[in-house]
Amino acid sequence: MVRQKHRNEYITGLDIGSQNIRVAVGQISGTHANDREVQIIGAIEVPSEGVQKGVVTSIEEIVSSLANAIETAEKITGVPIEHVWVGLSGTHIICHDSKGVVAVARSDGEITEEDVARALEASKTVATPLNYEILHVLPRSFSVDGQTGIKDPIGMTGIRLEVDTKIIFGITAHVKNITKAIYRTGVDIDDFVLSVIAAGNVVLTGRQKELGSVVINIGSATTSLVVYEEGDIVHTAVLPVGSAHITNDLALGLKTSIDTAERVKVEYGQCVTQGLSKKDMVDLSTLGSNESETVSRYYISQIIEARVSEILQKVDNELTKVSRSGLLPAGAYFVGGGARLGGLIELAKEQLQLPASLGYPLTVQSITDKVQDPAFASVIGLVKWGSSFTNTPVQSGQNWRGMPAKMMQGMRSFLKNLLP
Ligand SMILES: Nc1ncnc2c1ncn2[C@@H]1O[C@H](COP(=O)(O)OP(=O)(O)OP(=O)(O)O)[C@@H](O)[C@H]1O
Ligand SMILES: [Mg+2]
Repeated sequence: MVRQKHRNEYITGLDIGSQNIRVAVGQISGTHANDREVQIIGAIEVPSEGVQKGVVTSIEEIVSSLANAIETAEKITGVPIEHVWVGLSGTHIICHDSKGVVAVARSDGEITEEDVARALEASKTVATPLNYEILHVLPRSFSVDGQTGIKDPIGMTGIRLEVDTKIIFGITAHVKNITKAIYRTGVDIDDFVLSVIAAGNVVLTGRQKELGSVVINIGSATTSLVVYEEGDIVHTAVLPVGSAHITNDLALGLKTSIDTAERVKVEYGQCVTQGLSKKDMVDLSTLGSNESETVSRYYISQIIEARVSEILQKVDNELTKVSRSGLLPAGAYFVGGGARLGGLIELAKEQLQLPASLGYPLTVQSITDKVQDPAFASVIGLVKWGSSFTNTPVQSGQNWRGMPAKMMQGMRSFLKNLLP
């Protein structure tokens, strides 16, 4: 019973990145979905070892990094962490559209949460690619007896309920390895959520999702994005290029170590050359280099700009795939550690031809200033995502596969979470 109480009070997000593991713990106040608020009581980051681009490269190393992350978060919050909402990312993630159709069960034709859950379940019968498994079934819109564009059909009357979904798949082996590593640290998994979707859910308002917007997470090894329009997720992708590529370029261009290149990027990095003088020099020996060498900030920015332009070009290619290039009125929101780079927003506005800004978590209160950091948007998004299921404790071990049962219990809040 005590454990049950904990389940309902605290929600933990765990975002496993190639360079950093982040944990955020939230406390719920209010008992009903409408007055429920999440307060972040602690958020931490520790270095991540044993995972690259969302793929486990060493179980031992990742278990030790995870244990460190969980222990640090427990120390800071004083809350024992027993179960976590896990943010997944990785270039192995793909998405497909699907459709589910069911007959409404009740004889009076009123659509219930069970009908919606069955329709979502039916949409899962889409052929799953070999060696992949379903991570998310995201309802886009429903139709009842042919009337399309319905956001929340519960309580309506009809005979035939259809749902258009976006299904997100991950490679089974990679998901299993992450699962195994987390279980080894002694915590349960509430569910997996695609990191960038968790971020999108917390940095955008319903109106921004309605008008059309894109959230772009620039991580270390990957850049992921999620596109919204009319409140639906139109597209999502994980690209195999991130901020670590900028560091590599600097190491090659400046002929210096990766560590020095990383410091150059973080301390002097800027992706626009405008306003920089070629005479403005940086001494690499002050940034950990053994050799005393000076390079111009102009040259540093040129190297950075070239790679950031390439990343933005790849993002734009994804927008073109769904015919939204330059056509998202609510604009682009950047999150992730790579979004801290100076000048990114200016370059993005120019290159994507969209309004652009950094993404900060909305609608969560916090006693830590970490919510003001776009790098924490995903993990705080995970806590918010989890908060919509707080009254739906799930069975340990089988929970992340048991999505329908959980969905049935929290369907209304789940839909609220996704739709404006
Ligand atoms: N102030 C800064 N300026 C520029 N880049 C920064 C800054 N701070 C962090 N970064 C970069 O952000 C990246 C880390 O971002 P993040 O922690 O979001 O990645 P991750 O989640 O570990 O990786 P991934 O999501 O790709 O698996 C690193 O490449 C780091 O160099
Ligand atoms: Mg990340």
